[in-house]
Amino acid sequence: MGKSKLQRFADNRLAPNVIEPGKPLYQTIRGNWHVSYFHNFNPIVLELACGRGEYTVAFAEKYPDKNFIGVDIKGARIWKGSQICLRKGLQNAAFLRIQIQQIENFFASGEVSEIWLIHPDPRPKEGDQRRRLTHPRFLNHYRNIGKPGMWFHLRTDNAGLFHYTLEMLQNEPITDLAYTNNLYESPLLADHLDITGQPIRTKYEELFTLQGHTIHYLRCRLW
Ligand SMILES: C[S@@+](CC[C@H](N)C(=O)[O-])C[C@H]1O[C@@H](n2cnc3c(N)ncnc32)[C@H](O)[C@@H]1O
Repeated sequence: MGKSKLQRFADNRLAPNVIEPGKPLYQTIRGNWHVSYFHNFNPIVLELACGRGEYTVAFAEKYPDKNFIGVDIKGARIWKGSQICLRKGLQNAAFLRIQIQQIENFFASGEVSEIWLIHPDPRPKEGDQRRRLTHPRFLNHYRNIGKPGMWFHLRTDNAGLFHYTLEMLQNEPITDLAYTNNLYESPLLADHLDITGQPIRTKYEELFTLQGHTIHYLRCRLW
């Protein structure tokens, strides 16, 4: 049987790669990721709404010359990625347990080189638009912590959220937009391969593809 939530929370408290309330780095990490956590000046890549952190784990293995941080509010999910990274000895990976609304409190201007947003909750209700992680207020947060022209990636099974995002991006200063409504039939799948050349698959993707959804993906540079 798997570990209970309480056991996972206890593991997270001890895990050096989980930064969360109550730990000293939580208060001081903004602007200090390179020096205080990674001890190098390699680019920092975020996986937002990371859940179990499949991209953080896979990319940390594949790209040892970059630093990866999975961000999510759910400790019991982050636990999975954290434990895998500890087991594999991946020093270039970390997990940050915060509300993404607060992201500017944890990264300084220009500290981030790239953002991947992986299957965020679609929040289909009209009244929930501001809570969508691709609402202009979130895109603004991302721009404020990113280097000028940083790559922004969205992967989702939800056609509504995908088309909403494309619409929002029309009003943003972006370049190099590329997208597909069916990732597994697209050359853009090359962006999503792990160290063995297999496509990275996430927990939520598994649930949604069982329901017959295709995977949508876009990437662009945010200025
Ligand atoms: C549908 S799940 C996808 C998880 C994972 N990326 C996957 O594909 O399996 C969405 C995740 O986003 C997280 N999330 C949603 N809104 C958030 C917010 N405002 N701040 C932090 N995490 C959030 C949830 O906790 C959840 O783990």
